Amino acid sequence: MKYNSVSTDIIAELKAIVGEKNVILDPEKMEAYSHDETPTAQYGRMPEVVVTPVNSAQIAEIMKLANKRLVPVTPRGAGSGLSGGAIPKFGGIVLSVEKMNRIIEIDYKNMMAVVEPGVVTNEVNELIAKEGLFFAGYPMSLESCYIGGNIAENAGGGRAVKYGVTGRYIMGLEVVLPTGEILELGGKRVKDVTGYDLKQLFIGSEGTLGVITKAIIKLLPLPKKKTDLLVLFEDVRTAIDLVPEIMTKGRVIPTSIEFMDKLSVQTSCEYLNEQLPYQQAGAMLLIEVDGNHEQQVEEDAEIIGEICYQQGALEVYVADNYTTQERVWSVRRNIAEAFMVYSPHQSLEDVVLPIAEIPNLMPYIEQISEKYGIKIPVYGHAGDGNLHLTLVKNPESTMEEWYNTEDKALREIYTVTKKLGGTISGEHGIGSKRNKYLDLACSSEEIRIMKAIKRVFDPNGIMNPGKIFPD
Ligand code: LAC
Ligand code: ZN
Repeated sequence: MKYNSVSTDIIAELKAIVGEKNVILDPEKMEAYSHDETPTAQYGRMPEVVVTPVNSAQIAEIMKLANKRLVPVTPRGAGSGLSGGAIPKFGGIVLSVEKMNRIIEIDYKNMMAVVEPGVVTNEVNELIAKEGLFFAGYPMSLESCYIGGNIAENAGGGRAVKYGVTGRYIMGLEVVLPTGEILELGGKRVKDVTGYDLKQLFIGSEGTLGVITKAIIKLLPLPKKKTDLLVLFEDVRTAIDLVPEIMTKGRVIPTSIEFMDKLSVQTSCEYLNEQLPYQQAGAMLLIEVDGNHEQQVEEDAEIIGEICYQQGALEVYVADNYTTQERVWSVRRNIAEAFMVYSPHQSLEDVVLPIAEIPNLMPYIEQISEKYGIKIPVYGHAGDGNLHLTLVKNPESTMEEWYNTEDKALREIYTVTKKLGGTISGEHGIGSKRNKYLDLACSSEEIRIMKAIKRVFDPNGIMNPGKIFPD
């Protein structure tokens, strides 16, 4: 696809649409919009212009202009993504929703909220907690990410074992199409089978079908009590083998079953200047149970603790107060960021498998790590089958060797994951990080249909090009 560059007359038109103060051209300011949380040297790209519209009518005008002039548009939330989704791979316009950050309505009677895409996800939860409500569809980066990005990527996070992923909580969307039409999809209805579910198509579409400009989100009653167990193991295998048993033997669905190996815990502790007294253990599970009745939550935690001991845990620590819970969760939440700081040349992966297959993946990871001479620390959401393997560049290798190794190792990991019934991304998305591997996960017929759907919405291919599909 050949795109036009952003000429001075296009900039003048953009200024007429959003006003001068909502157009950014200063390269120093635009730099912040040229990367996300993927390695910048590998995936970064400067926009030609950044616009910060304040409503959907302005976005419709921007899209009409870009569509007519064949200029790519990349929608952007907080830039906390992990697959290059918000990076303007072919330059053009970055459309940041940062100024559309209102919580428009809290509808208590319907237990829903109406929000703009630039709302920081955790703000919703802070606002509604005092009313005894919560929004369950949030990822690990809840303190910085925007809800629009969560929807565009269909984010997951640490509570999907019990609560599922972001998409489950999206009741309605307003979207602006690449051709400038504004659509209202879904609504405050619990049931709806009126025609194809177009709303669902936008959830996880990575900004390739349109711009999300408003969302109706479902709220749940906030559980009154939660308890966390930090379970220590000698080695990775024992911890991972245990995960399915918690649910099958224990007959308990915890909120979270998070896994961390030793290197992940140590790196995060170093980054946070935190000292967990037990960070020498080979692997840890962080298991959370919640509910409204204290006794039930305690019993569930006890059952899980017993199973852990039976299956070879070294130690089970209970964290039932906010301060201790925050300390251990903070170590877990900061692993990705810690690896980015200590290992800038790395590949943060996001494979997802049937829960019972996770133990079968681990020997392959050990083999691949040995074969290519790279460290592959592992952490992630073991309870829902979603693991973040992080391939770390060997400090002795050149960049060329690293990119070559990364590609080969990823192909092997993705191939074995697929063979075990898994796929290449559970929550981070394909973006420009995994698009060249899409055919390892999806059949050519599936890809053909996906591309045909894309063309219906975006006939000129201006909407976030270079993402999902192989170039
Ligand atoms: C996490 C991010 C990397 O689970 O998805 O920490
Ligand atoms: Zn994650």
